[in-house]
Amino acid sequence: MGAVFPDNRLPAHGADADTVLARMGELRADDRDWKGGRVFSLVYSAGDAVHDILQRASNLYSAENALNTMVFPSLGWMQHDIVTITAGLLGADQVAADGTGDVGGYLTSGGTESLLQATKTARDWGRASDRPIERPNMVLATSGHAAFEKAAHYFDVESRRVPVGLDFRADLDAMANAIDDNTVLVVGSAPSYPHGVIDPIPELAALASERGILCHVDACMGGFILPFLGQLGHVTKRWDLSVPGVTSISADLHKYGYGSKGVSVVLYRTRELARLQPFITNNWLGGLYGSPSMAGTRPAGPIAAGWAVLHYLGNDGYLRLAEDAWGAAATIRGSIERAPGLAVRGDPDATVFAFGGEPVQAGSPVGGIDTFALGDHLADRGGWYFDRQSPPDSLHATVHAGHAAVAADLAADITAVAAELAASGATAANRDTTYGTE
Ligand SMILES: Cc1ncc(COP(=O)(O)O)c(C=O)c1O
Repeated sequence: MGAVFPDNRLPAHGADADTVLARMGELRADDRDWKGGRVFSLVYSAGDAVHDILQRASNLYSAENALNTMVFPSLGWMQHDIVTITAGLLGADQVAADGTGDVGGYLTSGGTESLLQATKTARDWGRASDRPIERPNMVLATSGHAAFEKAAHYFDVESRRVPVGLDFRADLDAMANAIDDNTVLVVGSAPSYPHGVIDPIPELAALASERGILCHVDACMGGFILPFLGQLGHVTKRWDLSVPGVTSISADLHKYGYGSKGVSVVLYRTRELARLQPFITNNWLGGLYGSPSMAGTRPAGPIAAGWAVLHYLGNDGYLRLAEDAWGAAATIRGSIERAPGLAVRGDPDATVFAFGGEPVQAGSPVGGIDTFALGDHLADRGGWYFDRQSPPDSLHATVHAGHAAVAADLAADITAVAAELAASGATAANRDTTYGTE
């Protein structure tokens, strides 16, 4: 193999396809077993049949470029269809019925880019307002996604982080106090990544609209599961564009939409606001360059796969997957809540949650369980992988439909490992947290 695949150097002679693919199979040996339901972040799985259609749709569009939909009108159509379907799931009909807008939006490459775009749009809206805001800030809870920091950094918008309440939700009074004349955007999450709780969106949106500023709901995580958990009666909170004062929202098709990686949707209550997002120039020698998002050339595969999975699953398919994820999350949460010394952090609203050792109570018969030791022991025992978060120390669980088949096994391992650690008091030497890598 060494001769055929020299490290970090283009081989002098190409290898045949089977040899290349076999080598990739070897390289994957140390990757985590997400297909077996062992990974609780990063990947979403709705089963082999869904993976199959994603692959077939991506293959069909592996070479096309969504930069110019006059050359590939099918990509223009699919993007429009995905945006319209998503708008329908996220309250656009109510907006039309209320006469408070005409929802429009765009596809982006993922949650991060949707948040970048929403922030840039808010900045540009502030600049263009009657009293131009030159040093804009956005107000968000400490639970808001890290991508908002990236947006703040890229677009020179101050990020005003406000500590969450004891329930890990945005603290309304503290958020209100952080808003000033330079605030362009108030942010809420539905749900938040770290603890899976839905912020009080109607109240946050009211805060924003009373001051005449924008409110973005980060439903990157919830956008393709909360509507179905709502239909099933599991979630009754209001969090989407149907809430007055919500001016934009993001939802990731590549998370609970079960699409391939590289596709998210950002929607605006009005077309006027949406029009601030695209970039257009002819200030060069190559002709008109119009682009709705960060990239120029855009891969068509994720768009095709995203369109395919929406139509393959339909409403009833998503309802089934939402129920599977809900059931799996309940099984796993139950084992944590029953294990002496362990706790779920806060009261998560959907299928994302964080858990770990409970603070030791005076006189408790159970020793304190070290959260990161729990993660290490679960990895050793069953190959279970949870991101480590802090503060407070916790293990992150994004539970999806693919976990339904393994939830009972994990619950049994949690029970066993918790008992072991309560007895041994073992602690993890490595205290590093993980989410993304450089
Ligand atoms: C609430 C929330 N917002 C934004 C993101 C960022 O999404 P992406 O990783 O697709 O960029 C995530 C990712 O998990 C998320 O949970």
